[in-house]
Amino acid sequence: MSHEKRIKELEKMNKQAELGGGEARIEKQHQAGKLTARERIDILLDKGSFVELDKFVMHRAIDFGMDKQKFLGDGIVTGYGTIDGRLVYVFSQDFTVFGGSLSGAYAKKICKIMDLALKNGAPLIGMNDSGGARIQEGVESLAGYADIFLRNVMVSGVIPQISAVMGPCAGGAVYSPAITDFIFMTKGTSYMFVTGPDVVKSVTHEEVTKEELGGAITHATKSGIANFVFDNDEECLIGIRELIGFIPSNNLDDPPYKETSDPADRTSPELDALIPDQPNKPYDIKELIFATVDDGYFLEVHELYAPNIIVGFARYGGMPVGIVANQPAYLAGTLDIDASVKGARFVRFCDAFNIPLITLEDVPGFLPGTVQEHGGIIRHGAKLLFAFAEATVPKITIITRKAYGGAYDVMSSKHIRADINYAYPSAEIAVMGPDGAVNIIFRKELDAAKDPEAKRAELIEDYREKFASPWKAAELGYIDEIIKPSETRFKIISALRMLKNKVDTNPKKKHGNIPL
Ligand code: HXC
Repeated sequence: MSHEKRIKELEKMNKQAELGGGEARIEKQHQAGKLTARERIDILLDKGSFVELDKFVMHRAIDFGMDKQKFLGDGIVTGYGTIDGRLVYVFSQDFTVFGGSLSGAYAKKICKIMDLALKNGAPLIGMNDSGGARIQEGVESLAGYADIFLRNVMVSGVIPQISAVMGPCAGGAVYSPAITDFIFMTKGTSYMFVTGPDVVKSVTHEEVTKEELGGAITHATKSGIANFVFDNDEECLIGIRELIGFIPSNNLDDPPYKETSDPADRTSPELDALIPDQPNKPYDIKELIFATVDDGYFLEVHELYAPNIIVGFARYGGMPVGIVANQPAYLAGTLDIDASVKGARFVRFCDAFNIPLITLEDVPGFLPGTVQEHGGIIRHGAKLLFAFAEATVPKITIITRKAYGGAYDVMSSKHIRADINYAYPSAEIAVMGPDGAVNIIFRKELDAAKDPEAKRAELIEDYREKFASPWKAAELGYIDEIIKPSETRFKIISALRMLKNKVDTNPKKKHGNIPL
């Protein structure tokens, strides 16, 4: 065969591989409102940067007529490319080939990419759209999943792992995305569940649609499985690009600095009036975030889940940070089970990847009640405490108003190794709120008083003056500085600059035993 013919043959093979399951199935994919595996990669990566590996791999199954049904690439597109010039590894499941189902050969392609991502210290992004285990391959497919799960666990905390679920993801297949750091889902076209509606009906007699059981909104609001939801594939992929912009390539790397024209010493005079005079009046902590971060840009993670705590990424003076903030505008900013778990997982991600933590605190305590106690708020609240305490990244805390009880300790207090702790003059640092405190410690005086209500009001005011303030904590050095709200941005940036070369360690151990 001449050289020219060989090149022609290569071109023909490439074209064939790029067609996946063929025109008709591509059309069906589009009609379902989904992009193809390759179209997704094109949007995710910088133009022309994708390099494909294993394009001609095929399965080796022979049963059920499989020896006569072969597709180049076998239903999974793998390789590497760049996002804003930074290396990432990708795999994209091709639903047009055997419903994107996973064979032994397919799993090996994913594992090859994962091994390269680990050795070369770059993020792994998986785009999921699959009918699960390739039924014709049986245990070989199950083995393939387990090979992937093992790698997901081994690389966890070494390279960032991101999963986009943009079609079906069911059965044991959900456990690969579940182990990764962030899950993105698309509304109306993606679903994740361990068992589908039919099995649910036969076992529990519940009637539920796919969407209700495991659609994007369900996982974004109820289960907390989805960190981000988007209207369609394109927006979802652009969302992943944005997230990558905040995180380092691996656990030895610094998060990506981005030049900004937003002055470090910019003040926000409006913040001096943000905290209401009445202690029980809500306000939106996001106003404080938007007013102080570079260019007012905040990438919120888990926006629709447990809104009593806000988590997400932003930059101060060009430096990426993770923000954890109690939200007084929802459930008064109390810490409940969902908020504790949401916060803890985010703190651990930031700590694993050298992203400094900014904690904004206004928390009246843990949410009371049998639902919370019986649901295990003790164990789940402990996760947040554990996560903050073990974190060795720069930690800066600002108490805006309430820092009551155990929640004061938990929310990145000085005592669990926060580096710089600021308080606003409006901070109330106390064992509990003045009302509760007075009812307990002055019970006898209140019972004996001629006018108990007037006495209670007097005692509450007295308690508030003495204890519900930042002064005692500042006197003890638990607060480093009491700052004006309008100066928050500069105070955070100067602390971050001071902590730039921070080194702190934990005792040598196999791993801690976070209360799971
Ligand atoms: C082989 C599969 C397949 C699978 C789909 N296909 N799933 N082939 N193995 N698991 C094929 C179909 O035969 C069809 O081929 C094509 O993909 C498209 O499928 P459709 O059913 O036409 O598409 P749609 O109507 O959109 O339905 C999608 C679906 C459905 C909901 C995913 O295909 C489905 O229920 N599939 C089976 C899901 C399943 O039970 N998987 C095993 C789960 S257990 P043609 O040639 O007609 O186009 C599991 C264990 C993992 O995954 C364990 C890990 C530990």
